[in-house]
Amino acid sequence: MCTASSIFPITDERGKVYGISILARDVTAERTMERESARLERLSVMGQLAAGIGHELRNPLTTVRGFLQFFAGNRDMAAIHPQLAIMLADLESAHAIVSQFLSLARDSVGETRCADLNQVVQGVLPMLRADALIRACCVTAHLRPVPRQRLVEGEIAQLILNLARNGLQAMAEGGVLTISTEECDGAVLLKVSDTGHGIAKGVAGKMWTPFFTTRDGTVGLGLAVCECIAKRQGATITFVTSEQGSTFTVAFQRGDRAC
Ligand SMILES: Nc1ncnc2c1ncn2[C@@H]1O[C@H](COP(=O)(O)OP(=O)(O)OP(=O)(O)O)[C@@H](O)[C@H]1O
Ligand SMILES: [Mg+2]
Repeated sequence: MCTASSIFPITDERGKVYGISILARDVTAERTMERESARLERLSVMGQLAAGIGHELRNPLTTVRGFLQFFAGNRDMAAIHPQLAIMLADLESAHAIVSQFLSLARDSVGETRCADLNQVVQGVLPMLRADALIRACCVTAHLRPVPRQRLVEGEIAQLILNLARNGLQAMAEGGVLTISTEECDGAVLLKVSDTGHGIAKGVAGKMWTPFFTTRDGTVGLGLAVCECIAKRQGATITFVTSEQGSTFTVAFQRGDRAC
């Protein structure tokens, strides 16, 4: 609890102090609000930076990738095909980082379409299953029928991928990642659960901050991007965690997104 206190002397009519008055006020909510608005401010500055850097980087990256793909398809260059494959893979991850950056930068909602959330999940499942295979984990989906709603499908796919990849990265061999959808009290819920090591208290408070990461070789943008996407599409993200795993829940309130 955070408190703000004031202390006043209590005096008699001759000015002699015969007591003190202490006024203490619980300011926890105000402090939390201040911290939250400072965090959002940082996020917005990050977004502006991201827009600039992203635009500058995307075009040269695309050109280099195009040439590398051309060389990779050229038989005369067979001798360096393994090196070209490594370069292409690295470029792919640079491209992914720039795309995440740009996603942070966008503050307007993209073009929404009347979509079925379950189809968006189905669309990313093959990619996730391939990721899971490499880690000897498995991915299951429990998709209940949910009402169609107005969504920017590409962004929602990105959000699911980011949450699911976090889950996969938290699990040891044999882990199970579950993606489920359901309708509950007028909201459409998307849940991503893992059987990983859970999220420590110290990490939970910071993990939404851009560039915060506890992992080697990752950037720390995944959850910040998820938060931006959810905010843009009027959804909220909550999570529960324990040593047996974590579940992230994205709640889409139907409201004016019904279609
Ligand atoms: N499901 C999870 N289980 C355990 N820890 C998690 C989970 N999701 C997120 N975290 C923690 O939150 C941190 C931030 O996650 P975030 O997705 O933003 O970045 P990252 O995964 O480290 O990097 P990036 O997503 O950019 O590749 C992670 O480094 C990890 O410590
Ligand atoms: Mg991540």
